[in-house]
Amino acid sequence: MAFIIAIDGPAASGKGTIARALAGHFGFHHLDTGMLYRATGAKGGDPVAAARGLTPADLARDDLRSAEAGQAASRIAAIPEVRAALVDFQRRFAEQAPGAVLDGRDIGTVICPGAAVKLYVVASDEVRAARRAAELGADPDEMLAQLRERDLRDSQRAAAPLRPADDAVVLDTSALSIEDAVARAIALVERAR
Ligand code: CDP
Ligand code: CDP
Repeated sequence: MAFIIAIDGPAASGKGTIARALAGHFGFHHLDTGMLYRATGAKGGDPVAAARGLTPADLARDDLRSAEAGQAASRIAAIPEVRAALVDFQRRFAEQAPGAVLDGRDIGTVICPGAAVKLYVVASDEVRAARRAAELGADPDEMLAQLRERDLRDSQRAAAPLRPADDAVVLDTSALSIEDAVARAIALVERAR
């Protein structure tokens, strides 16, 4: 059986960085599930048809990491039929041997509720905004407002809202370097193995 690591949390909390590092460390596959929603939003047109017809080429588009693509993703991600269209792909990905790390919003709660390790990564709003602003070369105050708007939409939607699974371990990276955050995550996984 594949070893599944589910990583969820709000925008720019450090999920992706930790997920990539864990996959590299343990030799697991990694899926940034946010890219599925970003690519679906970027395709335009009917979002349900876009999600159903998603191809690898859609994921290779420029600008999927932009703040605008993040906002568009968050809007289409609230549509239950869009989410349903992406479930099978994510579950199949998770079942790959020897293991997989998936990061997103609903991995521990909906996509892989039986995951061996569930991490819920958080950081203060200000720290997250500063990190994402540095990454995109954007204004921190504007980024703060955008992240808050997106987190609110993601956590208040009816379909698979952003929330920690009951059995998730919460990791606050506000005061942690990337190295320290990754080391804690590795230790947690080692314990579960
Ligand atoms: O995947 P998610 O949106 O949660 O965040 P990320 O892309 O992993 O991290 C957002 C930014 O914060 C990146 O530029 C990371 O290098 C940085 N980061 C950090 O400075 N300290 C951490 N402990 C984790 C991430
Ligand atoms: O990297 P960051 O945390 O800023 O965003 P992302 O993980 O790329 O996700 C972009 C948007 O897609 C989120 O704001 C959610 O609305 C949506 N999403 C989701 O609903 N479920 C997931 N498993 C992953 C992302």
